[in-house]
Amino acid sequence: MKSLLIQGGRIIDPGRKLDEAGSLLIAGGKISWVGGAKDTPPDADYDVLDAKGLIVCPGFIDLHCHLRQPGFEEKETIASGTTAAARGGFTTVCCMPNTEPPLDNKTTVNYVKATAAAEGIIRVLPIGCISLGQSGEEPADMGELAAAGVVAFSDDGEPALNSKLMRRALEYSRSSGLPIIDHCEDKALSEGGQMNEGVVSAELGLRGIPNAAEDIIVARDLELAQLTGGWVHIAHVTTGGAVDLIRRAKEKGIRVTAEATPHHLTLTEERVKGRNTSAKVNPPLRTERDVKALINGLNDNTIDVIATDHAPHTEAEKRQQFDLAPSGISGFETALGSLMGLVHRGDISLVSLINKLTAVPAGIIGKKYGPGTLATGSLADVTIFDPTLEWTVDTKDFASKGKNTPLAGERLKGRVMATIYGGKVVYRDEGVTIEGS
Ligand code: DOR
Repeated sequence: MKSLLIQGGRIIDPGRKLDEAGSLLIAGGKISWVGGAKDTPPDADYDVLDAKGLIVCPGFIDLHCHLRQPGFEEKETIASGTTAAARGGFTTVCCMPNTEPPLDNKTTVNYVKATAAAEGIIRVLPIGCISLGQSGEEPADMGELAAAGVVAFSDDGEPALNSKLMRRALEYSRSSGLPIIDHCEDKALSEGGQMNEGVVSAELGLRGIPNAAEDIIVARDLELAQLTGGWVHIAHVTTGGAVDLIRRAKEKGIRVTAEATPHHLTLTEERVKGRNTSAKVNPPLRTERDVKALINGLNDNTIDVIATDHAPHTEAEKRQQFDLAPSGISGFETALGSLMGLVHRGDISLVSLINKLTAVPAGIIGKKYGPGTLATGSLADVTIFDPTLEWTVDTKDFASKGKNTPLAGERLKGRVMATIYGGKVVYRDEGVTIEGS
């Protein structure tokens, strides 16, 4: 592979507190040199990617997505999902175990790893189940799953409602050092719920899911994390109450990390008006007050990372009436553009946004699985984006099979221009040129 010079961009590497104009040389799949914008790199033979006006940062790492394979290949495959992720600037994605069969044993985990190696274009790290078949009853063999290479455990949208099972999972987390990713939903309270419980659900005549359905399980699992010394990672936080609980737990020294999604950080329940199934997601889009609490949580690091919860579904499924349509938003390809809206509005800083997509998730999964840095000698996972380029979301351009996004037709400001995985350009926008030296 010929060396590649990424020339003259703004290099932001939050893990090393680096934010300066410069160039970066990639050789042998690694970052081999970082220098000033006008410095000449040591190597003489390289192609040049012109990054003038662009941000150059570590490849994005997504702790929470659904790739659907095995079992739901009509919604997504590892090939289509990783291509979509690369278009969104991601070089590492952690995939949830709610496949068919689920990732509750080493055979299915090995299948995902082998398929990702053969057909994926970026790094795929599987998450294993807590219970067999995500049943919430019999525990999965977490030791076997850890040995097979899962990076975390979760029963995803079927959370362990049995406190004893969650206690056991957190005990295993303590001994293995792997996090339990917790979808917090009291199913008795959310049963039949289609969207956030509030004014809009009343207007639409749809059954709602109250904030308390999330807050109750967050509170329980923070208690269990304290009891066991295990590590709970709260998935897709949506309520102001959950943010407060996590903040207080961190102050007490409980081992907790948390994530928020681009859609919960930027959209509200208003999007469901007209019974718009593309805005149906679980947990649901909440209120402006919750969105503000999430942004405060990002800014004081109560919320550690941003994760997409990319959840592709077919058009036929989403065309059904609201209560029959499945929950989920296809999120890889709009993540950066929608999150840059927060930066342009002054809600969060650009460096903090990149930090929560790179260095912080790298710290959670362990750096051997995704560097999250541009330090010399690291594997060359690099994302290059234009912070101000405006574009219209056209789902026909999505590489994901899931066209289910409430952002279809909208203008976003900020666009991924190139993604480099292990030194290889896996995505390049037509606006980016690479020329031989
Ligand atoms: O909206 C969601 N979609 N929430 C979940 O918990 C699961 C996910 C899916 O798998 O579609």
